[in-house]
Amino acid sequence: MALYPNYPLQTERLRLRPFTRGDVDAVFAYRRREDVALYLFDGPLSREECALAVQQRIGQIALEGEGDKVVLGVELASSGALIGEVSLIWRNVDARQGEIGWIFDPAYQGHGYATEAANALLDLGFGPGDMHRIAARCDVRNIASWRLMDRLGMRREAHFREHALFKNQWDEEFVYAILWQEWHSRREVSNAG
Ligand SMILES: CC(C)(COP(=O)(O)OP(=O)(O)OC[C@H]1O[C@@H](n2cnc3c(N)ncnc32)[C@H](O)[C@@H]1OP(=O)(O)O)[C@@H](O)C(=O)NCCC(=O)NCCS
Repeated sequence: MALYPNYPLQTERLRLRPFTRGDVDAVFAYRRREDVALYLFDGPLSREECALAVQQRIGQIALEGEGDKVVLGVELASSGALIGEVSLIWRNVDARQGEIGWIFDPAYQGHGYATEAANALLDLGFGPGDMHRIAARCDVRNIASWRLMDRLGMRREAHFREHALFKNQWDEEFVYAILWQEWHSRREVSNAG
């Protein structure tokens, strides 16, 4: 089932919406930073690389086939400031498997915004996207990222030891996931509360 979401996706404090050409400076503000790039495959990006990344993201708004990716800009509803991005990839169509990811500007970390945006993306994947399981992965040293997975109710399913090379060193990776029925149980509990 293809997924063409209605944008923006609204949450209590945020709007998740497609990227536009006007986002390049806001993206450069966080993607230029060493601390943001530490556990990303890319190093810190130049402004030109950010312009290319934004150009690519502008088209990443629907899931039509395996490997497709939705990448959304996250903006604060109160000010309209772009504070980060979240992604949802269709990893396997037949088995209805998805994967989520996130990058936020350090100026806006520590407020639960990534949790709020990722929750909206899980709602999208498990709701209109009809996914069965959504996974996320990160470097084991990326404590902020796996703590976020914990907050989302995802389960640590794997710790891959030295399974690949990352920036010329052995990679240690956690894989987390949550199933459709687990997500629905959590939603029922939070709606009841
Ligand atoms: C991973 C990343 C998105 C996590 O960001 P974050 O700000 O820690 O996550 P949240 O926005 O959910 O905020 C959670 C923090 O805000 C606090 N918080 C405040 N209000 C909150 C609320 N209403 N709801 C939830 N948490 C709240 C939490 O206690 C938590 O703080 P703590 O970690 O000190 O306990 C961020 O570190 C990042 O972008 N890193 C760089 C890019 C990267 O590595 N991406 C992942 C690659 S795998």
